[in-house]
Amino acid sequence: MCGIVGYVGDRQAAPILLDGLSKLEYRGYDSAGMSVRNGAAAAEIVKAKGRLKVLAEKTNDGKTLLGDCGIGHTRWATHGEPSVENAHPHCSDDGNVVAVHNGIIENYQELKDKLTRKGYQFYSATDTEVAVKLIDYYYKKYVGTPVDALNHAMIRIRGSYALAVMFKDYPEEIYVARKDSPMILGLGEGESYLASDVPAILKYTRKVYYIGNLEIGRLEKGKITFYNLDGDEIEKELTEIKWDAEAAEKAGYEHFMMKEIQEQPKAVQDTLNSVIHENKIDLAEVGLEEEQIRDVSQIYIVACGSAYHVGVAAQYVIEDLARIPVRVELASEFRYRKPILDPNGLVIIISQSGETADSLAALREAKSKGIRTLAIVNVVGSSIAREADNVFYTLAGPEISVATTKAYSTQLIAAYCLAVQFALVREEITEEYYTELITEMQTLPDKIRKVLDDKERIQWFAAKQANARDIFFIGRGLDYAISLEGSLKMKEISYIHSEAYAAGELKHGTISLLEDNTLVIGVLTQSDLYEKTLSNMVECKSRGAYLCAVTSYGNYSIEDTADFVTYIPKTDTHFATSLAVIPLQLMGYYVSVSKGLDVDKPRNLAKSVTVE
Ligand code: F6R
Repeated sequence: MCGIVGYVGDRQAAPILLDGLSKLEYRGYDSAGMSVRNGAAAAEIVKAKGRLKVLAEKTNDGKTLLGDCGIGHTRWATHGEPSVENAHPHCSDDGNVVAVHNGIIENYQELKDKLTRKGYQFYSATDTEVAVKLIDYYYKKYVGTPVDALNHAMIRIRGSYALAVMFKDYPEEIYVARKDSPMILGLGEGESYLASDVPAILKYTRKVYYIGNLEIGRLEKGKITFYNLDGDEIEKELTEIKWDAEAAEKAGYEHFMMKEIQEQPKAVQDTLNSVIHENKIDLAEVGLEEEQIRDVSQIYIVACGSAYHVGVAAQYVIEDLARIPVRVELASEFRYRKPILDPNGLVIIISQSGETADSLAALREAKSKGIRTLAIVNVVGSSIAREADNVFYTLAGPEISVATTKAYSTQLIAAYCLAVQFALVREEITEEYYTELITEMQTLPDKIRKVLDDKERIQWFAAKQANARDIFFIGRGLDYAISLEGSLKMKEISYIHSEAYAAGELKHGTISLLEDNTLVIGVLTQSDLYEKTLSNMVECKSRGAYLCAVTSYGNYSIEDTADFVTYIPKTDTHFATSLAVIPLQLMGYYVSVSKGLDVDKPRNLAKSVTVE
C-alpha cells in the first residue's frame, strides 16, 4: 500500500525522502510526491504519476528541492485514479497545511460537503485533500496549535489514517497522527524521521518509537514529543530495531523474491530456535500457559491470502495431532459475518505484516467478544502484535517481495510448534512421538536446502510454461493446502490464470476446463492419499492434460504417469508442506522471470493491505 517518509534535521531532506520511498517501492504504488521546506519559506510540492524515478527526474534526484524538512509519499490509488492531481502531498489553498496520508477516510464525503459549505474548494478526488482542509479549518477556527487542530480533525474523521503534516507557522517541525495505519518515528543525532515501514529509515537510524492509535507526534530536529487526544504530553519507549540494513537489500540477487526463497532455511531455523530448547517446545515467550492450552475447546484461524493458506495447512496438523476442532476463515469474511464464538475458543490471527486491515479487524472482533487471541506475526511492534493477547513472532526478517515466501514458511513452523505442543499438553501424543516430531522439525532447514539445490531443473521446466493459459494445482488433505499456495504464487506473479482444487472435487465440474496440454500440477506428499490423487491425475491425463508431479523421493513409479516430476525429501507427513511449497514457489518465480515480468512488484498488488 502507500508509503510515507518524513525527515527534519540539518541535511537536505529531498534525497533522504527519495531514498526512503525507494525502500518502500515494494509495497506497491502508482504515483509519488514530496514537499520540502527551506526554513520558514513556504513548502514546495512536486508530484509525479508512475514510478519513483519520474519524481527523481523531475527534481534532479532531489537536488532542486531545497530544504531540511520534508514529507514524501508513494500512493496506491483508493479514492481517485492514479494522477498528478490525486498524488500526495495535498495542501490547503494558502499553503497553511501540507500533508501526506495512508489509509481511508470513510466519512470523507460528509466532511467534504461540510467544508464546501464553509467555502473550501477541492481539486482532487482524494479523501486526503479532505483531511488536509479539515485540519486547516480547525487550525484557523480555534486559532490553536497544530496539536489542537489535529485533535479536532481526528475526532471528526472515521476510518484509518497515518498522517504526516507540515504547518506553515511551524517551520522545521512535522506533525503525525495515526489510527489503524502503520507509522513509526525514528530518532537520529539532531534529526528525526517518520515512515510507514521500517526499511525506509533503517539506513539512518535503528531507534524508533511506535506511535499508538489516536496519538499525535511532533517531530523536531532530534526530538520527538507525543500527545494524546486531550493534547496532553505522553511518554513513549524508544525501541531498537534488530534487523540489519542489508537484510532489506538484494545482496546480489536479481530479485528480492529469489533472495527470500533462498533465505528460507535460515528463517525456518531461526523460528525453530526461538521456541525449541533442549528438544522441547517452550511457549513461555508466547505467553501461553499449559492450563490455557488444556482449556481450549475450539480454534479459529483467521487470515488473508497466503497466511490463510498457512491456516488451511495448520487446520489439518492441529486437528490430527492435538485433536482440537479448527475452523479456518478469511479475515474479510470473519469480521462481517457476526461469528458465533465458543467462549473457550482461541482465535489465531496469522499475518506477516501485522497490519492487514481485515486481519486486524478480525482480531478486534474476537477481542470484543472476550475470546483469547494469539497472533503469529513477523513484524515486531505491528498493530496486530500489539493488540493480540499472545504473540508468536516468526523470525523471517524483513520480507520485501510482494509475494510472500519466507514469511509463509516461518508461519508454517509456528503452526507446527503450536500443534505439537498442544498435542503433548492435552496428552494426545506420547512423549516419544513428541520428541520424534521435534527432531524431525529440526531437519527441515537442511531438507529445504536440498529442495533448493534442484532449482535449475525447475527453472528449465518453468521456462517452458511461460505461454500457458491456465494451470491447475491439485492435491488432497495437506497437499490441497500446498496447492492453494502454489496456485496463488503462480497467478500473482506470472499473471497466468491458475486454480487449486481438492483433487477429489475435479469431477464435480473443473475437469471440463481441461484441454490438450493444459498443465496440471499434482501434489502427492501424503502417503495415505497418494493412490487417490494419482488416479485423479490419470483422469486429467486421459483428457489431454500435461502433468507435473511434486512428490517424495522413493515414489519413482509416478514417472510412468507424470511428464515432469520434482522430488522432495521424506519427512513426517505433517511437515511435508514446508518442503513441497519450495518447488511451487520456484515455479511461480521462474515463469514470471521468463515472461520478463516485475517479479517483486506484480501489477495491482501491494505488500501490506492496510485498507479493506
Ligand atoms: C501472497 C501474499 C498475500 C499475503 C496477504 C496477507 O503472496 O503475500 O496473500 O499473504 O496479503 O498479508 P499479511 O500476512 O501481511 O497479513
